[in-house]
Amino acid sequence: MSNLFIPNGFSVRDNEWFIEELSLSSLAKEYGTPCFVYSRVALTEAFKQYESACLRADGSRRARVHFAMKANSNLAILNLFAKLGAGFDLVSGGELERVIAAGGNPHDCVFSGVGKSAKEITQALLAGVKCFNVESIPELTRINEIAHSLGKVAPISLRVNPDVDAKTHPYISTGLKDNKFGIAYEAVLSTYQTAHQMSNCKIVGIDCHIGSQILEIEPFIESIDRILALIADLNKRNIPIEHLDIGGGLGISYGHEASPDITLFANTLLNHIEQQGFGHLEVVFEPGRSLVGNAGVLLTQIEYLKPTPAKNFCIVDAAMNDLMRPAMYDAYHAIVPVTLKDLPEVSYDVVGPVCETGDWLGKNRTLKVLPQDVLAILSAGAYGSSMASNYNTRPKALELMIDGENTYVIRERESVRDLFTHERLLPTKAV
Ligand code: LLP
Repeated sequence: MSNLFIPNGFSVRDNEWFIEELSLSSLAKEYGTPCFVYSRVALTEAFKQYESACLRADGSRRARVHFAMKANSNLAILNLFAKLGAGFDLVSGGELERVIAAGGNPHDCVFSGVGKSAKEITQALLAGVKCFNVESIPELTRINEIAHSLGKVAPISLRVNPDVDAKTHPYISTGLKDNKFGIAYEAVLSTYQTAHQMSNCKIVGIDCHIGSQILEIEPFIESIDRILALIADLNKRNIPIEHLDIGGGLGISYGHEASPDITLFANTLLNHIEQQGFGHLEVVFEPGRSLVGNAGVLLTQIEYLKPTPAKNFCIVDAAMNDLMRPAMYDAYHAIVPVTLKDLPEVSYDVVGPVCETGDWLGKNRTLKVLPQDVLAILSAGAYGSSMASNYNTRPKALELMIDGENTYVIRERESVRDLFTHERLLPTKAV
């Protein structure tokens, strides 16, 4: 506990964990568990930290934030960011529909992803997205053809695969040449020349995204430098670039590491781009995790404490279907009892009820707990609810937004009935 990083919006007072003005134990009691709880202050402050780097002293703008909504696509969170002035990075037609339902503007959206379907491209062209972040020549050709058939011109950017090692988990590393993402560095210039010839594509930008949960600045600088070299070459060939989208990827503290300073990170990159003589470009950031990750926790109640000859298990009512990250990436999330009690310390593996050995949320955690106590799994605001599933026919968790002393239900708890409402029995004669 002593060296635990306590995220913005959270505090510990009189042995109780608080989110803004409310105790986590009172929220668990009133709304039940498992339950995601987000702090409006923390979301807003993270966004403002980016904004303070994006705005120059004279108030003019040198960069824009497009929230990578895959990190958390709850409508209330999208709506909050839209009101704060964010654009969005989206990766499916479904995400585009969410932005619109949340009151966001498609003109402020970039559309990323390696597998855009014809239907999604049509939908995005009709909605008028700011830009397609194109990942291959076949995709470029498809976009051009669809734009032609609709009598539209598609704004495009090519996603560069800069072949840079982001030094993060292999599953969330995207900028290496054997990853499926982007256009190979050596092929980028010729692909721009191809795009330049296309009647229904307009080149507006260049983009990259090298990975996620990156805690060092060097991989970002390395990939930016490689891209700036491409922009210089494109300029010589009379192919002007308006915006440089440097992707997302900034990591957060998951408990014990220092939390990177968002403003410092963004300023360092923006200053570097200016120093290299590219200050005229509009820069785009696509942060996901660093905007929402530390703003949310997952509350879960202990069902059983199960000692075995080999280990002690703390069996809770949240599981891998609510928070996939430990099972999928071996990810660490700090876990704390929401009420600190004077009990003996015991080391537990914190596990869920799902029938998989991989269903764990924390290993070898020293906790002072009793059955029925509530735990908070910290830093669960990013890639928590958005990656949740219904495995084992488990309804998705309720989600709450806290604003000072006010609590808003931003996603109702699913009912079991919701889970099979789209399923049908075979007709009697077929069975
Ligand atoms: N832009 C693009 C094109 C992306 O693919 C991503 C994330 C982002 C931006 C935002 O990256 P961030 O700022 O959140 O690092 N599920 C994994 C993370 C997958 C990230 C996928 N792409 C996890 O839970 O760690």
